[in-house]
Amino acid sequence: MTIKIIMDTDPGIDDAAAITMAINDDNIDLKLITTVAGNVTVDKTTKNALKLVRFFNSDIPVAAGAKQPLIKPFEDAARIHGESGMPGYVFPDDLPKPMDKTAVEALRDAIMANDQITLVPTGSYTNIALLFSEYPEVKSHIERIVAMGGTLGYGNMTSAAEFNVFTDPHAARIVYNSGVPIVMVGLDITMKALLTPESLEKLPTLNETGKMLHDIIIHDGDNSDKGIAMHDVNTIFYLLHPEAITTEKMWVDVQTEGPAMGETVGDIRGAYHNGKTNTAVCVDIDAAEFNKWFIEEVSHISK
Ligand code: BDR
Ligand code: CA
Repeated sequence: MTIKIIMDTDPGIDDAAAITMAINDDNIDLKLITTVAGNVTVDKTTKNALKLVRFFNSDIPVAAGAKQPLIKPFEDAARIHGESGMPGYVFPDDLPKPMDKTAVEALRDAIMANDQITLVPTGSYTNIALLFSEYPEVKSHIERIVAMGGTLGYGNMTSAAEFNVFTDPHAARIVYNSGVPIVMVGLDITMKALLTPESLEKLPTLNETGKMLHDIIIHDGDNSDKGIAMHDVNTIFYLLHPEAITTEKMWVDVQTEGPAMGETVGDIRGAYHNGKTNTAVCVDIDAAEFNKWFIEEVSHISK
């Protein structure tokens, strides 16, 4: 059975790898890509999404979304993802055009046309918060949100906050309190499932897609001797291999102010919500399986 999804994304190096898997895996039916300001400006994230669609000769529509967070001033992550957001590979420049609709309109239409679809946000959640505020009727037509973002442990922006949630904590709060079931694919697993130096070395030997991914991934500033965090790719891995990831149900809320701004607060002890939960938090992952799968996915791509 194929899994119908929409990706809301800010490519971004790891976003690009996640989009690559989603476009090419036969078990995923990617209906729409929407873009948001995050790693770089929305003009750049939109262009990067279009570059990938063109690279794979795909006809998946791309709609441009929010230029800035709901309230907080916009700050990019070009120090990690480079000025373009997807450096290191020369893509064709005859790019398709984005849709004539905004991301919010495109999301509404795609959700209403594809009942029980899975939303996969891999950037900040600004578009989704705007969607839920303007068209709350879409919520009951979404099966679940499998979102990269958040952490129960350390943050990667502040001690407490992960980048996607920190970028627009007010949007994240709306999404976590929306009533739509959420799978939180956060740093708790993405910092465990690093793409190892051995996997990275194999990529360009596989095919042109492997070369493209290799050439952009080596520019990722989120790296160490042990490997490179492929945060957003963990969402697609979860969709296809939930058995390789351990989740725990709890209530998650989001801090919007103060030194813990952007923190995803998991009610681990069930102290505040009378046993009610809104999120399955990913807490552990088989990192070796993730690496094996990553290489297999790319090697199956015909380009
Ligand atoms: C998240 O932040 C972005 O820089 C990455 O693309 C990923 O979505 C990781 O914290
Ligand atoms: Ca991202």
